[in-house]
Amino acid sequence: MSQIVDLVIFGGTGDLSTRKLLPALFQLHRHGLAQRLDRIIATGRGAMTNEAFANEAHDNLHRYLPAGTWDEDVWSSFRERLHYAQVDASEPEHYSALAGQLDTGKASGRLFYLATLPSLYGEICQQLQTAGAVNALSAVVLEKPLGHDLDSCRQINAQVAEVFEEEDTFRIDHYLGKETVQNLLAVRFGNPLLSPLWRNTYVDNVQITVAEDIGVGGRADYYAKTGALRDMVQNHLLQVLSIVAMEPPLSLKPGDIRDEKMKVLRALLPITAENVKESTVRGRYDAGAVNGEAVKGFLEEADYQGADNTETFVALKASINNWRWAGVPFYLRTGKRLSRRYSEIVIEYKRQPFSLFANDPNELTNKLVIRLQPEETISLHTLNKKPGLTNKLRLQPVELHLTDESRNTGDRYDAYERLLLDAINGDQTLFMRRDEVETTWHWIDSIIAAWEENGTPIKHYNSGTMGPNAATALIAVDGRSWYE
Ligand code: BG6
Repeated sequence: MSQIVDLVIFGGTGDLSTRKLLPALFQLHRHGLAQRLDRIIATGRGAMTNEAFANEAHDNLHRYLPAGTWDEDVWSSFRERLHYAQVDASEPEHYSALAGQLDTGKASGRLFYLATLPSLYGEICQQLQTAGAVNALSAVVLEKPLGHDLDSCRQINAQVAEVFEEEDTFRIDHYLGKETVQNLLAVRFGNPLLSPLWRNTYVDNVQITVAEDIGVGGRADYYAKTGALRDMVQNHLLQVLSIVAMEPPLSLKPGDIRDEKMKVLRALLPITAENVKESTVRGRYDAGAVNGEAVKGFLEEADYQGADNTETFVALKASINNWRWAGVPFYLRTGKRLSRRYSEIVIEYKRQPFSLFANDPNELTNKLVIRLQPEETISLHTLNKKPGLTNKLRLQPVELHLTDESRNTGDRYDAYERLLLDAINGDQTLFMRRDEVETTWHWIDSIIAAWEENGTPIKHYNSGTMGPNAATALIAVDGRSWYE
């Protein structure tokens, strides 16, 4: 899309738009990066004037923009872009009015951002087309979750594909917009020092942790039907895994990168009723204390039917069946109400074949630790001589920091800024292709079916811990431990 674009946000007054999209758009505007963008038209079911919407946006931006980024002058020009349109998803007249509104602008391109219930995506696309709102320069952005299993995902993809070509369809996984996830490509493929070691000959295991300290909060309804496996593993953790494990792409073009990610996803060994017991742990938080504050358990927050079969924590042992990774377990874990919020990838290298040293405990290994958040750091854990006059040579760990300060002190951008900018510019590299999403659902569906077949129990954990003991046992039986 090299033309001027109008952005239409469905779910424009919703949580995602308020907390993430509008602040990200404000920041792009503030940095002068939104030249291709003209109007931002937020839609919602209720009637509201442009002015009332702008006033709400003003207050919300104050609340959700990072401290120190508010600027009154920027706001006055940003406000000019903001518009509101009433669109009830099933009301054809509302779409006709929207189409009329779009025709009056100077933009030739149209970007429709769908941040509503995914079950509405098909209908919204159809209605937009029928009303004549979709032109040859239109594209659509789809928020997650894309369905709740493979069938529903396929259905949504098929309905959207009746209106939008795949090259005009942008499926968001906001983890791909995080700076360090992109830096992984640079670290992996830019450093001849590291690339030869990125394989089963040298790597013992890989750990991917996405820990959250928050609970389900106001999303308890959605969450109870979803659970951690669908909410986090199907998308964020598997996307990160595919970038860690992919082969070098032919080029940095979107198709080449996505082809390589796709091969990894296809090589994931299915988890079925036969191996689900030793490969997965489900957990649910009870009451406890997080960051010194007493918090309720999940079942007290989400008091409705079915919630007692929802996991808020999951740990998995995944295997990638290909030449590079055969024999290397990928341990994944994610959960809510854990002791702290952080996301991290740990590449743990094999030990020396023979130990020469007086002390050589198990935890002393070389590791590459890639922190995605809250800080963006990469460090290489090496071993040195422990200083001193003892007659025995002892080892001690030394961390080499591979990232410079500017990553954490500069003007950091939010993942949604990167992704919105890319969608406006028509760059699909950081978005999920249809086959990727369907392949991950296929893998996830098999785990859910195996849980049902085996009646896999949900283990309890206290809020403020790192999950159930069973998650420690999952990795301990292999003689390993989570890197904390
Ligand atoms: C969302 C999940 O996709 O990611 C949420 O639906 C989760 O449950 C969120 O809290 C985590 O994102 P981040 O960027 O805060 O790690």
